[in-house]
Amino acid sequence: MKKDVYILGIESSCDDTGVAVVKNGREVLSNVVASQIDIHKLYGGVVPEIASRNHVMNIDGALAEALEKANITLDDIDAIAVTYGAGLLGALIVGVNFAKALAYATGKPLVAVNHIEGHVCANYIAYKELEPPFLCLIVSGGHTALVEQTDYIHKRLVGTTTDDAIGEAFDKVARECGLEYPGGPNIQKQAAMGEANIHFVTKPHEKHTNFNFSYSGLKTAVINYLHNAEQRGETVIIPDVCASFQKEAVEQVVTKTIDACKMLGYDKIVLAGGVSANLALRETMKREAEKIGADVFCPHISLCTDNAAMIASRGYFNFVNNHMIVDPKHLEPKSTLPL
Ligand code: KG4
Ligand code: ZN
Repeated sequence: MKKDVYILGIESSCDDTGVAVVKNGREVLSNVVASQIDIHKLYGGVVPEIASRNHVMNIDGALAEALEKANITLDDIDAIAVTYGAGLLGALIVGVNFAKALAYATGKPLVAVNHIEGHVCANYIAYKELEPPFLCLIVSGGHTALVEQTDYIHKRLVGTTTDDAIGEAFDKVARECGLEYPGGPNIQKQAAMGEANIHFVTKPHEKHTNFNFSYSGLKTAVINYLHNAEQRGETVIIPDVCASFQKEAVEQVVTKTIDACKMLGYDKIVLAGGVSANLALRETMKREAEKIGADVFCPHISLCTDNAAMIASRGYFNFVNNHMIVDPKHLEPKSTLPL
């Protein structure tokens, strides 16, 4: 009988310290996330140095809690998977060094995981039957990309942002609207109370000849709208601004994803990354995909944003495919990684 494989996942690429235990890549036994939102909220965004210090303080306790909740000991773990990039360097260093020390001390294999590839794997946890190939839209604070996931390991880039990431645009627009960090969920809340009745004038769009994205034009148009209104002493209806921005932001990714899906002949569209928690995006994508006969997969909201279960899941697929198993002495965190 095939032996079950237990992976310990460690995530510290931004402001969430995550430790999780996942069985066979898809069954979450524990998923501990020590969030720092309340701390960074005071500064209006993530302060890298503060994030690193808090990872140091949280990571030991998160490991103990993850093992306890999974009712497992380190002896039962088959491999340790850790996010080695992309992310804030000082934050990554904490998780990577912790994982290296654990691997060294226990003699367990160490598996390096690309954070973005982890986000995609949140879907394997949410949908036990989901298998590649599929078309995947990755939307997070640092990425906006379309990839063809050809098997559990390999992918091909279809399109990426030429400037800002969609999550970055949500966060910057939120800040300009006077909303608290994290901006995305707060824009969504405001948008639900408003009407999408403002058309933000951006530079005439590049002819739709490729699947690349652009968000700086929309972001700047919203900021200009707010500044102009302020200068003229006009009242701005923030819920309407948020609803209008969200509609345009969502339409761009949905249109390109649907077009790519038709052109490349996929019937499965998978959403990944923090912005895939956005309800307007989830609903619009499902509605448009239905028209072309494609199914949409998106994980539960708690698995969309940063967590270690998705890292353990990708760690499992790397491990069983003998991919990215690294020497603990030589693993180095990377602030950027190619998609
Ligand atoms: O994947 P993630 O947790 O971290 C990165 O890897 O970047 O994504 C964080 C991003 C932030 O920009 C945050 O504002 C956005 O995801 N986000 C949302 C929502 N929830 C999180 N954006 C729009 N609507 C949401 N509900
Ligand atoms: Zn992320």
